[in-house]
Amino acid sequence: MSQSQRSVLPVVLAAGLGTRMKSSTPKVLHQLCGRPMLAYVLDAAEEVGHRRPLVVYSPATAAITEVFADRADFALQSTPLGTADAVRAALAAAPTEIAEVLVLSGDVPLVDPDVLAELIDLRRARDAVMTIVSVRMIDPAGLGRVVRSDDGGQVLRIVEQKDGTPEELEIDEINAGIYAFDGQWLRRRIGDVKPSPVSNEFYLPALVELAAEDKRAVISLEVEDDGTLAGINDRSQLADAEFELRTAINEAHMLSGVTMVDPSTAYVDATVELASDVILEPNVILRGSTRIGAGTRIGAGSQIVDTIVGRDCLVWASILECSEVEDEVQIGPFSHLRPKSSIGRNARLGNFAEVKASRLEPGVQQHHFSYIGDAVLGEKTNVGAGTITCNFDGTQKHKTKVGKRVFLGSSTMLVAPLQLGDDARTGAGSVVTKDVPAGMLALGVPARLREPRKPGTKLPPDKAE
Ligand code: UD1
Ligand code: MG
Repeated sequence: MSQSQRSVLPVVLAAGLGTRMKSSTPKVLHQLCGRPMLAYVLDAAEEVGHRRPLVVYSPATAAITEVFADRADFALQSTPLGTADAVRAALAAAPTEIAEVLVLSGDVPLVDPDVLAELIDLRRARDAVMTIVSVRMIDPAGLGRVVRSDDGGQVLRIVEQKDGTPEELEIDEINAGIYAFDGQWLRRRIGDVKPSPVSNEFYLPALVELAAEDKRAVISLEVEDDGTLAGINDRSQLADAEFELRTAINEAHMLSGVTMVDPSTAYVDATVELASDVILEPNVILRGSTRIGAGTRIGAGSQIVDTIVGRDCLVWASILECSEVEDEVQIGPFSHLRPKSSIGRNARLGNFAEVKASRLEPGVQQHHFSYIGDAVLGEKTNVGAGTITCNFDGTQKHKTKVGKRVFLGSSTMLVAPLQLGDDARTGAGSVVTKDVPAGMLALGVPARLREPRKPGTKLPPDKAE
């Protein structure tokens, strides 16, 4: 952090109703690549400010105080009367001696911290009371236009869309909604902003004219339109911003050694970690705290949420939620790991295998049409086609424990609570209601116990794999 940034208080405006989102969720809590919009603004604020960001909220956006309690202070704007009124509310909650205030909009999430640092330095270097960020946009509709003196040198005022004359609305230079202020000047003048006669709102950009009255400079930092300063007011702009961010995320992963067969269809949250030599096939969605180990291939159509996948795995057109998968596992096509599943090294899950809250020890095979819930399956156990843990008795869930090297014949119903010892076997179609000791065979409906036949003799017809 440079010396010039030591006294900066970052203020983030997030009290607006966000009516153009047409949503019951506060605008700044809408997600971009898996994180709320406001999280990105706070990242930038933390990088350049030396104080905890001060976020302005209103009763309608009070949910943000819970979501961000650990990383911001909050100021209440009881009625959102406009951005100047929001800053007034922030100053009422801020220490009086603040020398510099950086104002950020909660709805401009992709803002680059380097631009903020430049904005702060520019204000100091030019001894301005206020610096703004301006961008020339192909489509400036909806945004505040920067009106300059005839020679183009001086910023005279900023005109909002609602208030502009047709001539003013022709201007393509817009105000990005990000400002650095001399703290003491801001405190003196914020109360002098008059409401717009058109909308009745107190506009923060009206301070440009108050600075002119005081014969103090307002300097504009003009930056290229690279998409990072786009404000999000509606869902279409939300989708545009998500596209920009997704493209940047994918680019960074590819440069660190991830193959994306078609990056335009790889949907990877900002929070996901991918090791080198991961391969993402088309139409893959990776969400939340997901981590994928080196050399793992995620096949087309897979969706993985909050799941850790080890090295050299293959996940093929499957859905994995809140689970853990060790190294060299193969899953799919069309498997479903539901929450709290843990799959041991080198296990194989195949067509329509569903697992919930269960541990499959290394080398388990579960290839076809099966459901394992609330269970532990020991090493190298084989789950025959159509096998199901009947874990729910209509009222309660019960557990199933299956030992090592157990052979579950096709269409075995394991009626929990139940335990099967190591090397036990079940016959095809058996309904197992009682525990099976190690090495025993359970057969029939309901299953009865027998000694298994000696190796090499004919087994029950349960090997329909
Ligand atoms: C604002 C600027 C506009 C700029 C644009 C850039 C004003 C009057 N206009 O317009 O010049 O081009 O941003 O994106 O400032 N907010 C409050 N309290 C309020 C009103 C708004 O905290 O009473 C917050 C909102 O939650 C939002 C931010 O301020 O995060 C900006 O408000 P918004 O209504 O989106 O302003 P824009 O119309 O986008
Ligand atoms: Mg806006």
